[in-house]
Amino acid sequence: MPHDSTVSTVATAPAATTAAAADPNLLLREHVREGLSRPFKALSSMYFYDDEGSRLFQQIMALPEYYPTRTEFALLTRHRAAIARALRPQNPAEPFFLLELGAGDGLKTKILLRELLENGADFTYVPVDISAAALAGLATSLQAELPGLRVEPVVADYADALGLMAARPGRKAVLFLGSNIGNFSPEERHQFLADLARPLTPNDRLLIGFDLQKDPRLIRAAYDDSQGVTAAFNFNLLHRLNRELGADFDLAHWQHYTDYNPLTGAVRSFLASTRAQTVHFAELGWSVDFRAWEMIHTENSFKFTQPGIEEIAQAAGLTTADFFTDEQDYFADVILRRAGH
Ligand code: AVI
Repeated sequence: MPHDSTVSTVATAPAATTAAAADPNLLLREHVREGLSRPFKALSSMYFYDDEGSRLFQQIMALPEYYPTRTEFALLTRHRAAIARALRPQNPAEPFFLLELGAGDGLKTKILLRELLENGADFTYVPVDISAAALAGLATSLQAELPGLRVEPVVADYADALGLMAARPGRKAVLFLGSNIGNFSPEERHQFLADLARPLTPNDRLLIGFDLQKDPRLIRAAYDDSQGVTAAFNFNLLHRLNRELGADFDLAHWQHYTDYNPLTGAVRSFLASTRAQTVHFAELGWSVDFRAWEMIHTENSFKFTQPGIEEIAQAAGLTTADFFTDEQDYFADVILRRAGH
């Protein structure tokens, strides 16, 4: 099947609210006030990913201790033919959209894109990401590496992307790789999957990457690496608040702390206040007190089991069609479809 070689320009996200458009930091301000007023203080890992945070995450993915990225890469390489077959329509002439949520640099996805192209699939790749810069880089690299690919990048967050997906007629396969699903709380995860499942037609497919439970020491090391890159990634959130909200976090009095609970599968990352201190937010005209060793919970990175994934899928109206793992059973790429069809 021929493919046209145009790469559409990066689209803008569906209109933000007028207030948020007038003040791009409005959501961050509201989030910080709310999260740091709780009895157990918390900030969303969503705010990790400014330019510096995205650069640090690229570094994390190359760390010896951070196994998920290279494991999923090996898994996709190993099972690319079967995964591509499971995602595309049985009728090779039927066109479809391959929508990817949180596309990033697309390094892993290119394995599947190449496989689909080589086998004559008629599809349009729709990478969705909140970073316009990441999408522009991806579009450029795709044009160079896979010139026959139709690409329609979209700058949007997950919620907007779900709306976009519902609005697209035609057959779809949706990718959510990299164990991003692990960063949701259980409630958020359920809501996200249920929202994702609702607009699916019986022939649409989802491919979700889940990091599996394994030796707890391996998991802990992945989130507390010896070079301190993950700590810098977590601290970057405080740098961001200093810069964008005029806060005065003194990094000398904060530590990165991570724990893994093998009973629940939760990796939780924190910023620990090593002494009693008050932090001022000039932009908010507001101050927060921290006790010595009080924590700010900054991230969840859940690890899963196969029965757990099946339960989660079922609760959201989905059913497992295929379950692919790497040689060590560290990671799973799971194909899901709407239940009851
Ligand atoms: C993006 N996400 C899947 C990563 C994870 O493993 O939870 C983010 C990360 N945080 C610390 N290291 C990597």
